[in-house]
Amino acid sequence: MRVIRKATYEEASKACAELIASQIRLKPDCKVGLATGSTPVGTYKALVDFYKEGSLDFSRVVTANLDEYRGLGGDHDQSYRYFMNTNLFDHVNIDKKNTFVPDGLEADAVKACTDYDAILKSLGHLDIQLLGIGGDGHIGFNEPADAFCVNTQCIDLEKQTIEDNARLFFNGKIDEVPTQAYTMGIGYIMKSTTVILMATGAGKKDIVEKAFTGPVTPSVPASILQLHPNVVVIGDEAAISEKVVAAAD
Ligand code: F6R
Repeated sequence: MRVIRKATYEEASKACAELIASQIRLKPDCKVGLATGSTPVGTYKALVDFYKEGSLDFSRVVTANLDEYRGLGGDHDQSYRYFMNTNLFDHVNIDKKNTFVPDGLEADAVKACTDYDAILKSLGHLDIQLLGIGGDGHIGFNEPADAFCVNTQCIDLEKQTIEDNARLFFNGKIDEVPTQAYTMGIGYIMKSTTVILMATGAGKKDIVEKAFTGPVTPSVPASILQLHPNVVVIGDEAAISEKVVAAAD
């Protein structure tokens, strides 16, 4: 595990964007796994800046997102497809046909998951996967459970996740937060050649420490990343404790 600890959110975002940009420059047709939420907004902004400066080309990049709310279509301003379009895809030269997000409007949950797994299988493994971490340790929307879920699944969101999402999104209206989501499974996340987990803010400090210095357990889904051979934890000083820095290889 590598740990990159920066003083501020902006610096951590820039460092995260640099890692993703380096991967794209090294392999212009690389496959990149993307996350939504408040954490990666600064990273996407920095990637857009690189593109506008002319130092980054997305024309051959393929992306796969971690998750989507069940019941929301891409036109809904709280859907993750909409988030990706407005924060990144609309501002760079990516071909949207090469950007994949689970289909939130597929009501048949089994079909939605099998369809997304078929897409992921056709992509093969990802070169780099960006993750955030939930307050309960979730990655994607793989919530704490009795076992690590390998494939795409339809998940009932935990109360804490719904509250966190209402606070940051949905204009605080908890009743409007969907209660279920489709999420890439942990098996596929673990197949990515490189995994970046980004965490910022004091609210993430305890869970990051638990995930990277505690036992590997499905009750803290992010803890499985301790077993990944090439994981980078990036964050600000508020989120990354000395104990996590000391746990780095
Ligand atoms: C979003 C996702 C989630 C978030 C996590 C942290 O695609 O997969 O795991 O990364 O909930 O969210 P923020 O960044 O809003 O704290």
